Amino acid sequence: MRAAEVTVDALPAILEFCRSNEARLLIARCLTSELSAVQAMEREGFLLMDTLVYYERDLLKTPIPPDQGRIPIRTFRPGEEDAVRAVAASAFRGYFGHYHADSRLDRHRSDEAYADWAQRSCLSGEAADEVLVADCDGKPVGFTTLRMNSPTEGEGVLVAVAPEAQGRGVCVSFMVHAMKWCLSRGASTMIISTQLTNLSAQKAWVRVGFRPVQSYYTFHKWFDNLGC
Ligand SMILES: CC(C)(COP(=O)(O)OP(=O)(O)OC[C@H]1O[C@@H](n2cnc3c(N)ncnc32)[C@H](O)[C@@H]1OP(=O)(O)O)[C@@H](O)C(=O)NCCC(=O)NCCS
Repeated sequence: MRAAEVTVDALPAILEFCRSNEARLLIARCLTSELSAVQAMEREGFLLMDTLVYYERDLLKTPIPPDQGRIPIRTFRPGEEDAVRAVAASAFRGYFGHYHADSRLDRHRSDEAYADWAQRSCLSGEAADEVLVADCDGKPVGFTTLRMNSPTEGEGVLVAVAPEAQGRGVCVSFMVHAMKWCLSRGASTMIISTQLTNLSAQKAWVRVGFRPVQSYYTFHKWFDNLGC
């Protein structure tokens, strides 16, 4: 089960709901400023798995910079789902998100979760509103998935670059094209998030004008004696 924006007041009801529905694992997020909720979760045997930091960019106040990358960015084409999946599988192998941080979860299946998510984003409008790819000689070497959260806010959901193409500015190029897509859909802001420790992603975002706005802890709580 998942709980977002956990507060100290809401925690007892969340735990009661999980227990009465025989939850095995609760993935709980809370604002890093909610220290009383953090400490209450620690007392209940929750384990910290990651820290997510959100960045935001006002798309109207300052112009979107030009794309100075050498690898062209374009819209995903039907039939490229497997190539996108392969990029996700290689880029997210051994990633340091909350699934990989939990020693009770199978690492291979945690890798697969990202590959599945990327593939689903290509196939279903429910997972993403747009998928962009970086095209190296006709072959996707990176992708980003985008969605509109509201009429005025777009979000970069997933971004990944194949290890052999990393460090060449592809992520920065993706951000430029992602902002243009959000603007074209009527958004005035774009948000994106990642693990606090993911410095290469944050460097790319800061380079194109994003600013940190808030952060969340992700805790896991296992409802059996092995977990805590
Ligand atoms: C994060 C990621 C998308 C960055 O893509 P990229 O195309 O390599 O990034 P860029 O080349 O545009 O570089 C962006 C910045 O990160 C730096 N950077 C790139 N690779 C780096 C690395 N391995 N270590 C440290 N810094 C790195 C670049 O120097 C650049 O910083 P600068 O502007 O100060 O020079 C890529 O590393 C990746 O796919 N990682 C795994 C998946 C992931 O973390 N996704 C993001 C969360 S959903």
